[in-house]
Amino acid sequence: MKRRNVLKLGLLAGAAAALPAERLLGPFTATATAAPGPKVRLFDTPLKVPPVLKPKYSVLGTDYYDMSMRATTQEILPGLQTPIWGYDGVFPGPTIKARRNRPIVIRQHNKLGKDIQAAVHLHGGNVPSGSDGLPGDEIEFGEDRFYYYPNRQPATTLWYHDHVHHHESFNTYQGLTGLYLITDSQEDCLGLPDGKYDVPLVIQDRSFNADGSFRLPNPEAGEFFGEVAVVNGKAHPFLKVEQRRYRFRLLNGSSVDTLHELTLGPGDSFHVIGTDGGLLTAPAPVTKLPLAPSERAEVVIDFARYPVGSQIVLNSSIFGAPLQIMRFDVVKATGKSHKLPSKLVPIQRLKESQAKVRRDITLNLDLATGQMVINGKSFEPGRVDITPKLGTTEVWTIINGESAELPIPHVFHTHLVRFQILDRNGVAPAPIESGWKDSVTVMPGERVRIIMKFGDFTGKFLYHCHLLGHADAGMMATMEVKR
Ligand code: C2O
Ligand code: CU
Ligand code: CU
Repeated sequence: MKRRNVLKLGLLAGAAAALPAERLLGPFTATATAAPGPKVRLFDTPLKVPPVLKPKYSVLGTDYYDMSMRATTQEILPGLQTPIWGYDGVFPGPTIKARRNRPIVIRQHNKLGKDIQAAVHLHGGNVPSGSDGLPGDEIEFGEDRFYYYPNRQPATTLWYHDHVHHHESFNTYQGLTGLYLITDSQEDCLGLPDGKYDVPLVIQDRSFNADGSFRLPNPEAGEFFGEVAVVNGKAHPFLKVEQRRYRFRLLNGSSVDTLHELTLGPGDSFHVIGTDGGLLTAPAPVTKLPLAPSERAEVVIDFARYPVGSQIVLNSSIFGAPLQIMRFDVVKATGKSHKLPSKLVPIQRLKESQAKVRRDITLNLDLATGQMVINGKSFEPGRVDITPKLGTTEVWTIINGESAELPIPHVFHTHLVRFQILDRNGVAPAPIESGWKDSVTVMPGERVRIIMKFGDFTGKFLYHCHLLGHADAGMMATMEVKR
């Protein structure tokens, strides 16, 4: 099966299943098959970096933040105002900078509007169940909730986003996404590019109506992802870069089926230094970087190799469909470049021999019911599907159980625990997939074995497909970690 056909058949079925009738009656109905959106000029607007939020106060080694989710408008396309939902009224939301072992408490106020619920999830966060954004823990309009994040993890790039069941895809598409960075002393010692040379790139595709409002891609019309690449809240921006090394924290924050494969100029290589759950053991050179929805990759690009005046485009191919994401415009360096260390951080490999429990997790579209299921079951809040034991190591085989006729890709994600990939169809992972992960792509016909250790917290947590339309449509389940 050609990848292109995977897209045509698979995503169509997936996206259609992911949009039950009631969802199509939302604000997008009137425009679902609407006229072409506004013309978007490429590389017209400078890249912006999301603001970093300051704690409201700090007491006894804990930082307290206050945020409110609001509906407002923002200039994403030059000269047009797009209605958005934003954490603190911005899209993407403000960045939270955390330090390892220094806890954070965030009070989130829901000021989105009448009848709109919210639930905040720290994706990749090792957090107590009550702060995970579970169904049943939604914040009603006008109310607030405290989230407690202990930050016991090593340096990593996490993100937070909405998690109201059946609305994950819609709510995050409206803008409810933001970055959450954890730093630690181990990372400090590496001398990686920092300050203005450490740049987050939150990549989110969108479609627009002529008036600038968001429009969901319409799978009936053969659209599976937004045709406009929005980076840090601006469409196809450009960034002036000096002739030196930069660290970029890439997040694919797409709400729809956008499985990126990123490249620079033809054959140009760059280094991957980190994955979802932290830094790699050593920089891994690549020319292509797959980045599925919810995955993070940290990369170092050395612009010293390009002459001043070069314009380097960050390209993507989404199942063969090209998308130019943004452009780097190379200028003269003002100082000495950071070095790229040959070693990063040690990663303790989890050993299969330590695994007490093995599970098969099959993801597929149930053709009889039109529901997206995990091991035959569609999500039900309150139902506990598995009960891992605190302190134990488990091996899960994630199986893409789609039929050959409807080859739909899935992106498997676990809350609470980071995992390591043991193998994909029996083959050990490439260096860029050999670090800590919390999301993994499982293509049609693939079986990916992952290993994880349940530590720190008991209680209920979710696991699901991170093509959020699939999660909306039932491809989600609950684990209860028990003592
Ligand atoms: Cu991004 Cu349930 O997660
Ligand atoms: Cu998550
Ligand atoms: Cu899926």
